[in-house]
Amino acid sequence: MSESRTPTAKAIEGSNAIRGLWSSRFAFILAATGSAMGLGNIWKFPYITGENGGGAFVLVYLLCIAAIGLPIMMAEVLIGRRGGRSPVNSLKAIAGHDRLNPAWRMVGVIGVIAGFLILSFYSVIGGWAVSYVGTAASGQLTGQSADAIGAIFSDLLADPLTLLMWHTLFMALVMFVVAKGVRAGLERAVTFLMPALFLLLLTVVGYAMTTGEFGRAVTFLFQPDFSKLTTSGILVALGHAFFTLSLGMAVMMAYGSYLPKGISIAKTSIAVCVIDTGVALLAGLAIFPIVFANGLEPGAGPGLIFQTLPLAFGQMPMGSLFGTLFFVLLIFAAWTSGISLLEPIVEWLEEQKGMNRTRSTLAAGFVCWLLGIASILSLNLWSDFAPLGWIGMLEGKTIFDLLDFFTANILLPLGGLLVAVFAGWVMSREAMEKELALSKPMFRLWYITVRYITPVAVGAVFIYNLFGS
Ligand code: PHE
Repeated sequence: MSESRTPTAKAIEGSNAIRGLWSSRFAFILAATGSAMGLGNIWKFPYITGENGGGAFVLVYLLCIAAIGLPIMMAEVLIGRRGGRSPVNSLKAIAGHDRLNPAWRMVGVIGVIAGFLILSFYSVIGGWAVSYVGTAASGQLTGQSADAIGAIFSDLLADPLTLLMWHTLFMALVMFVVAKGVRAGLERAVTFLMPALFLLLLTVVGYAMTTGEFGRAVTFLFQPDFSKLTTSGILVALGHAFFTLSLGMAVMMAYGSYLPKGISIAKTSIAVCVIDTGVALLAGLAIFPIVFANGLEPGAGPGLIFQTLPLAFGQMPMGSLFGTLFFVLLIFAAWTSGISLLEPIVEWLEEQKGMNRTRSTLAAGFVCWLLGIASILSLNLWSDFAPLGWIGMLEGKTIFDLLDFFTANILLPLGGLLVAVFAGWVMSREAMEKELALSKPMFRLWYITVRYITPVAVGAVFIYNLFGS
């Protein structure tokens, strides 16, 4: 059936015009990078790489980015731009109101649930970064030993009220921007803050090169030792590919709806993936030399960057200044990602419940904030509480660990799977060919990937993890 004759298709064509578009391809890249680049790159990537043994894990992660993340990002942007509406309505518009299987709503629902759950703990970690601005600025880190730096971090985790204060502040920052809906201001901020973070990260890498253990870190990160790779490590790598690229919860779909026609979806998506992955690898190159030079444990867990980077700042010239700047920029990176986590929930409340923006932001923000308290407590008072510990693979996982595991490793890949199936099996192939404007072989490669490879790969990793261990 020719789509262009249906009323829905007509609506599809006119819809972008009334919503305003990104000012340029560059602006889209900035906004998408602002969402993608965040704590996932600098906080999470190094610590899960350390926990999963390095090289082989990194290789699987890179493969997941290239073979699964990039094609799904293209699919999300494509669906968003073609639909030209909020994610759920774009899916509806593309599939045609009547023929739409209710299951496609799940993509929107997953986005809302994942946004709630991720933001609740994301904000707690964002709070750690806020707290370290003061720690670095006050000069407390200068000349300290690894033990003293470790103690500063454990003291922070042991103190629920301080954690609550920083978590509250971070949530307030996110809510402030979302309530105002100031996208333009954000665009401008991202333009110079993200490159600044990049430069500062390079500075730390430069320092890390002088520690004498740079070679060992490179080997650790890039020489695969497959004996260290586990089934659950593969799931973590896959899940992180989704988490770090902000995929599987329709964020890129929402952003894609603002992308002007005629701009290459493939090129822009590749740019976002390359920048995001580059930053993560740089973070690894900054952190692991410090880990090895100071005899620290690569598998130290979520505290890794807070136990290593302060050490570097404490030893390098003008370290207090660099350290302060670094944590300020890390807050900005986390802030832009946090905004993209809250935005879909607020849009959903506005659309479904007819609430105005301020009230939706307050309501959604409050629930995330409240949920965040459970993550805070699992760092201290409830640190031995593993609610689902009787399930083999969840043994010893605190509430915070569970939230992270469930969102990144289950919800986001599931959302991505639905997107792949939608693009591969529901949308019209001709329409997608037109929208992507790739050469024939490149289009075929993408199409086969979303139609077969992605669903099979995500499905296989799920099944292996459920029944294989
Ligand atoms: N990509 C962000 C990061 O790496 C986190 C995020 C996940 C943001 C999902 C939006 C949606 O920190």
